[in-house]
Parts: sequence; structure tokens; C-alpha cells
Amino acid sequence: MSAEFVPIFGDSIRMTREVLYTKDAQPFLISGSGTLGWDQVSANLVEPGERALVLNTGYFGDSFADCLQTYGAEVDQIRADFGATVAPAEVEKALAAKKYKIVTITHVDTSTAVLSDPKAIADVVKRVSPDTLVVLDAVCAVASEEIQMDAWGIDVVLTASQKGLGAPPGLSIVIASQKALRVFESRESKVTAFYASWKRWLPVMRAYESGSAAYFATPPVNLVYAYHASLTQILKGTPSLEERFRLHRATSNRVKAAVKDLGLSEVPVDPHAAANGMTAIYCPAGVKASDLLPAFLQRGVIVAGGLGSRKGTSPSSALPMLSLTATQTITSA
Ligand SMILES: Cc1ncc(COP(=O)(O)O)c(C=O)c1O
Repeated sequence: MSAEFVPIFGDSIRMTREVLYTKDAQPFLISGSGTLGWDQVSANLVEPGERALVLNTGYFGDSFADCLQTYGAEVDQIRADFGATVAPAEVEKALAAKKYKIVTITHVDTSTAVLSDPKAIADVVKRVSPDTLVVLDAVCAVASEEIQMDAWGIDVVLTASQKGLGAPPGLSIVIASQKALRVFESRESKVTAFYASWKRWLPVMRAYESGSAAYFATPPVNLVYAYHASLTQILKGTPSLEERFRLHRATSNRVKAAVKDLGLSEVPVDPHAAANGMTAIYCPAGVKASDLLPAFLQRGVIVAGGLGSRKGTSPSSALPMLSLTATQTITSA
């Protein structure tokens, strides 16, 4: 709560808005990983018994659905085929059949590197069911994929410090539109979470932004300083935010071209629906990920194995999966 920390926190809140191209959405910067964003959405925006529609493009869709159910939501899911996205027409059909409080989209599912189109989905939601909130899990997307929160009509973006934002892990970053806050403020039942309740965090965020400290639970001071340094680099440094997105695409295209040259295939089935901050590929036939990863590491290249129930295998060919991250290349580009 020291005086020199107050503007660091306040600026971090303001700069978070800039990264998401929003004028008046409310950022929440809270100690916790990206997962805490699911808890915040589930606890604050969906009352027990209300319906949520999860557009599932991989492992992280399963977990978001699980979290929503934990807080009492009635969850329906539209599951994309492995490596594919959910078509807007399917969302339209589901919204026409039932009323949903929220629709969740995983912008980039880290288990598949599938890139959803949040603008196209939000357009459908606004047209067919304008009261439904559009929630974007952008843990693996913010600052590596463009997100125009206001222009696209996204009501909540949830993310974390450790991926495109380039800070150490441990900071949950959630940005809620004024519409989402009104929905929160008009809820009938009590929030069934203590730490994740916006009732407790909203006064803290507002106080820091207006220049004074406030306390509900100790903020992760060191992480907020690191996050502030990252945001300053992203917004005020070279490259600019727009140039950064272009560089992510260019770097990603280079990685993907090299993958193709090696005769390997990517998990996303449509090249236009593949992430720019990471690349998910299948191992060559007969090669185990556990043999390959140390060889990469020896050459200073960090590659992760797959995630979730599909870890290490593709359903059709039983090939192990690998994820490459191009973010480091951008930082030094
Ligand atoms: C798309 C997505 N959502 C949620 C999470 C969960 O974030 P965390 O591991 O920081 O809790 C991740 C983590 O990789 C993710 O990629």
C-alpha cells in the first residue's frame, strides 16, 4: 500500500485497457493464475441454475465448463472436431433454441493451437440473443492476437500475465465491460465465492486507479511491477502494439513454413484458424515427444509436450503432439 506502488497499479489498470482497445471496461488484477479468471466469471456473472454455452476447441474448454458447473451453472457445450473451430451457424442454432446467460469462447486453446474468431461469434450473439454475455478466454491470446473488446462487443476478457503479456506467471487479469458489471450488480443471489468476489475487488481497483491504496487481500506487488514493465514495453516501446501483432503473424508464418518443410503437420486443420503466438504440431511417425524434447532443449529451443486427454496423441494417427511458442522471438525481433 506504499505511495510509490499506487501509480504502478493505477497505470497497469489503464494500460490493460489499451491492450484490449477498450475505453471503459473494468480491469481486475488479482493474485492467481489464469484459472482464477474462470472462477471470477463463474462466481460473479452466472447465478446457480442459469445456463452457460461453452464453445469447446480443446482441453481448456473442458476445464472452463467444469468450473462453471462447480458454481452451479447449467452448462451446454458445442464441441468442435479435434483441430477445428465451432462454426457461428452452430452457435446461432443453439442460441435460438435456449436462452443463455453467457457464451464462452476460447480464443486460442493451448492444447490445440486452434484460433477462434471472437468477432464472428460476438456478432451472432448480439443479433440472436443480445442479453447474453460474450466471455473470451484469452489466456493464450492477449498481446499476441488482436482483441478489439469494445468494437467487437466482447463483455469479458480473461487472461494471465505469463504468455503474450510476457511477465512471470501468477497474475490473473480479467477485464469486464460496463454491461457485465451491470449484470453483476443486478444479480439476485449472493456470490458464492469469497476471494473471487468482485464486490470485494471492485473498490480496490477503483481506489488504485483514482490514486489511493485500498485493501481486501495483499496484491502481488512484485508481479504488478513486472506486469507494468511488460505493458510499458508493449505499448510504449518498439514495436508498437499493431506492429507487434504483425510480427507475431510473420514469425508464426515462418515457424509454420519450417514445420511444413520438415514434412510435419499442424494440429489446426484450417491455416486461417491457427494461433499466431504458438504452433501445435504432430511428431514424426515413430518418434516419441519425450525423446525429441531434450534434443530441442540442448539447442536452446523450448518446446512443450501436449496437454489434456489428447496429450501426446492425435486421435486418428496416434502421433505425439508438440507445442512451439514463438513469443520469445517477437521479444527479441
Ligand atoms: C486457454 C487457456 N485458458 C486457461 C488457462 C489456465 O491458465 P493458468 O495455467 O495460468 O491457470 C490456460 C493455461 O495455459 C490456457 O492456455
